[in-house]
Amino acid sequence: MLPSLGPRLLATRGLSGLRLGPRWSPVAQGLRRPSGTHGGTGRPQGEAAVRDFIEANTEASREHLTPELMLRLLTPRCPLWTARPEMWPFPADPYWAIYWPGGQVLARFLLDQPGVVAGRAVLDLGSGCGAVAIAAAKAGASLVVANDIDPVAAVAISLNAELNGVRADSLRVVVRDLLSPHRAPSPPWDVLLLGDMFYDGSTVSSLLRWLETSLARRQGQEMEPSAPTVLVGDPGRPVFLERCEAWLGARATAGTAPALRELARYELPESARRDNSGLSDGAVWTLRL
Ligand SMILES: C[S@@+](CC[C@H](N)C(=O)[O-])C[C@H]1O[C@@H](n2cnc3c(N)ncnc32)[C@H](O)[C@@H]1O
Repeated sequence: MLPSLGPRLLATRGLSGLRLGPRWSPVAQGLRRPSGTHGGTGRPQGEAAVRDFIEANTEASREHLTPELMLRLLTPRCPLWTARPEMWPFPADPYWAIYWPGGQVLARFLLDQPGVVAGRAVLDLGSGCGAVAIAAAKAGASLVVANDIDPVAAVAISLNAELNGVRADSLRVVVRDLLSPHRAPSPPWDVLLLGDMFYDGSTVSSLLRWLETSLARRQGQEMEPSAPTVLVGDPGRPVFLERCEAWLGARATAGTAPALRELARYELPESARRDNSGLSDGAVWTLRL
């Protein structure tokens, strides 16, 4: 029997590395449907309807490593958790409805060490529910850009930012695939935040390729004001250390001495350990380039 939506998402978050592809079903019965649902498809249309859908089908939760942030999340108490995966009405899986363990440790770190981002321009790539970006804004970043490829995530990020009193002029949401070979230019950043982005080999390849070009471009710029900071939150996914160390090793032969350094390690809270079998803690790393 196929697992329901919640457990299926959790399988991606544990160590199994299961990947979820885009799905689509014209029949989405059993969900709490807000007004604005598109007649024949069950898919909410327009930002207001997506917002209503998120509010109707998620829970406002502080049950995570950053309880000072209230976040709309899909929890085992939501009816959608036990829905059949094909009942999900949007093309992309709701990664934004989960506060991933790597994001939890990274946001915790920013709230504990606000000096890392205070007064700096921040890009949270793969923002999901937006918690890491919200933590950066709370920590005093001069501007935060929360980026994701999923337009539904963009609505969730704005909703969560509002829930936490973060204004739209200090947190901008950008829906764009910065990692694609035909990518548009990235927003400028001093600090790059990567919360649990090392979950899938092909995303990691694109990410490291993108990082390589972004950094090379910056090095070519005169008057670079300060060295860029790259922070990664990761709960011990094997692909993270393997791929980063190989990547850094290749850069070292080009005459630089890049390094990966652990800055902090946190035990995951009970809720995250329960939902992510095999994971018990997570660390924040800096990629020194
Ligand atoms: C594992 S989740 C992490 C979410 C969040 N950072 C956290 O820790 O809770 C990965 C997120 O990256 C987004 N994503 C995947 N590929 C992306 C890309 N090329 N550009 C931007 N976001 C991407 C997904 O939509 C998803 O929201």
